Amino acid sequence: MNKPFYVTTAIDYTNGSPHIGHAYEKILADTITRYQRLSGREAYFLTGVDQHGQKVQQSAEKQGRDPAEYADTIAGEFIALWDKLNVRYDGWAATTDPRHKACVQKALQHLHDAGQLYKKAHRGFYSVRQEQFLTDKERQPDGNFGPEWGEVVELEEENWYFKLSEHVAWLRSFAASHESCVIPAFRRQELLNALDKAEGADLCISRPRTRLQWGIPLPFDPEFVNYVWFDALMNYISFAGYLADENTNLPRFEDLWPADAQIIGKDILVPPHGVYWLIMLHALGIPDDKMPVLLVHGWWNIRSSSGQSEKMSKSLGNVIDPAALTATFGPDAVRYYLMRDIATGQDADFIPDRLASRYQTDLGNDLGNLANRTLNMIGRYRSASVPEAGPENEDDTALRQTAATTLEAYRSAMDNFLPHLALEAVWKWVAQCNQYAERRAPWTLAKDPAKGAELDTVLHHLAESLAHIALLVSPVIPGSASGLMDQLQLTPAQRATTLTNLQWGILPPGHTTGKPSPLFPRIDLDAQQQPE
Ligand code: MSP
Repeated sequence: MNKPFYVTTAIDYTNGSPHIGHAYEKILADTITRYQRLSGREAYFLTGVDQHGQKVQQSAEKQGRDPAEYADTIAGEFIALWDKLNVRYDGWAATTDPRHKACVQKALQHLHDAGQLYKKAHRGFYSVRQEQFLTDKERQPDGNFGPEWGEVVELEEENWYFKLSEHVAWLRSFAASHESCVIPAFRRQELLNALDKAEGADLCISRPRTRLQWGIPLPFDPEFVNYVWFDALMNYISFAGYLADENTNLPRFEDLWPADAQIIGKDILVPPHGVYWLIMLHALGIPDDKMPVLLVHGWWNIRSSSGQSEKMSKSLGNVIDPAALTATFGPDAVRYYLMRDIATGQDADFIPDRLASRYQTDLGNDLGNLANRTLNMIGRYRSASVPEAGPENEDDTALRQTAATTLEAYRSAMDNFLPHLALEAVWKWVAQCNQYAERRAPWTLAKDPAKGAELDTVLHHLAESLAHIALLVSPVIPGSASGLMDQLQLTPAQRATTLTNLQWGILPPGHTTGKPSPLFPRIDLDAQQQPE
């Protein structure tokens, strides 16, 4: 039995509401998971929230709230959004979960026992406002620290350190010799370049309780809590059953690990995932052949009114709220747009008008129209029964053959985590079907009784294509795909066809189809509040 394909994402900070960048990452993960299942493979999808640390403690304090209650409230916003967007995960990684805390403490103890941790005093400049030590990098050209740091005092503080530098040589050779440890390739190069410059400093993995209470206490020194990144990174294994007690209702680590796609944004590759995380795993004794695959995506930026690409940020007031978009367009339009308009690894500009036009054009006019006309004509000309195909002309043969070529292009794109190319291939087929319908003009064939066999072929080929297309789009637009399958009246067995078994001939002659109803109804945007 193959191990399930394990998909995980970064866990989102619960110090602010979810935005379109968070949504993109979860939808990418959900799409990959659904694609694996469609391919006949078992899959496991873990995502969650990063609840500890200074950012969350500070946000809670600002509102005069208890950090646990605050973090749970924000976590609720994420959960509600994933539900609306049809993001379906198998495991929920909330870092306040006692099972996670137990695992982090065991791992810390293990590293402590193995001599990987040490305590040392550090003297340096400390920003009281930002509650962090500053380095020379934070100095202005004149040598002073800027006003953004508020009061800066010289301070000595003891902390626990992890011997990261001991493992940098291992990481260099591991990353150099494992081509797909980071995808896409240029992101692995980014990691390798960073390692060339790595100074070999150790990692401070604690914060004194005097200044941070909202974290996991170190089991061997309770005056300290664990640094939030160490705590957060551990979620990928703690919720996969690493060092778990029996009866914790978690997967078995040996069955699930390693992650086949650990999906993160480009901002958190170096150093947290590319350096800290891989070295943490190595120091915990995870062998090289069980290292996760880091799939690094780019960022959604905002196209400003002057045509410039800007970073999304609360202070610029340009943050896109995925919940509002979902309320206007439905989950599938948002999912489709986010999977279609970005190449995995690269950045893209989020343009609300493009979302609206892709909804209307790709979904409504192309796919919706194909479904509508096909089902209508089978209803009208063949009493809703898919006819057996008659003889083929060249055009018919070309359409039938597109099923195989599209499937191949689609699978190769999805296997390489490139849903935009998979969608492009499917939509080419959709366009071909619509053009084919225009050329073969079944409405004209239907008027001539001598053309009955030709009409059978055309209707059959359109219906069969539509059934394949419904399956292929299901990872990206699961709700609409399911609606389409309902209208096609696919049986449970037909709906469960995996891509390895997908061949021309899903619909047997005489298969009954249902009535079409619009899958992507027109939206009167003027009547709604336009998205910003
Ligand atoms: N909590 C840390 C991750 C810990 S993982 C052990 C964190 N959280 S975050 O909420 O700031 O970001 C969560 C994910 O969203 C990251 O992968 C980040 O790259 C991604 N994105 C945040 N803004 C984004 C865009 N504008 N576009 C695409 N993804 C973006 O980092």
